[in-house]
Amino acid sequence: MSELEKLVIAISTAIFLLVFSDNIGRLIYGPIYMVRKAGYNIAVQDASRVIAQATSLPQVLDMHAIMSVADPKNGEGIFKKVCTLCHNGDKGGPNKVGPNLWAVYNGPAAHKDDFSYSEAIKARRVSGIMWSEEELYRFLYSPKQYVSGTKMSYVGVKNDKDRADVIAYLETLK
Ligand code: HEC
Repeated sequence: MSELEKLVIAISTAIFLLVFSDNIGRLIYGPIYMVRKAGYNIAVQDASRVIAQATSLPQVLDMHAIMSVADPKNGEGIFKKVCTLCHNGDKGGPNKVGPNLWAVYNGPAAHKDDFSYSEAIKARRVSGIMWSEEELYRFLYSPKQYVSGTKMSYVGVKNDKDRADVIAYLETLK
């Protein structure tokens, strides 16, 4: 064999080993690496989805800006259509499935003494939590998620504008 032939064989072998071992490596480690990576991504996505569900809304809300464009008239329409299934909003009106909501706006949690609230809402009263615009905004987005254990079996007003409008209407109930 000439020196040149040896060199060609050596180089071919080197190239072959390089390509082959790279494929073997990919074969052995590639899938595992990819699975682990995919699993990691799923875990991260799930975690952020859980956090997104738990908080649902941004941590910081500019309630002044949100409420400055709220329309109580539209809110009244939603209230009459949805909330009155379970609530009455008249002064001195009855409790229904849910408590009467006259003067609930800016009032204490569990604002009616003659309604049988869940422990969850009663605990908020004990903690001194008031139905501020922001509390209402977060609660009405998803009652069960915001106050776990509440008896208010309503999925929530998901549309941000509609929710602000309902709160603007609640404000008029005083
Ligand atoms: C399916 C019945 C139902 C619907 C629909 C419903 N609620 Fe309620 N709501 C309740 C019940 C029951 C409670 C008492 C919750 C508890 O004790 O955990 C409650 C409590 C509340 C409270 C807290 C009152 C307090 O004194 O602390 C507010 C505010 C409220 N609802 C607003 C609304 C608004 C606004 C709507 C419409 C967008 C609405 N609810 C729709 C049943 C309902």
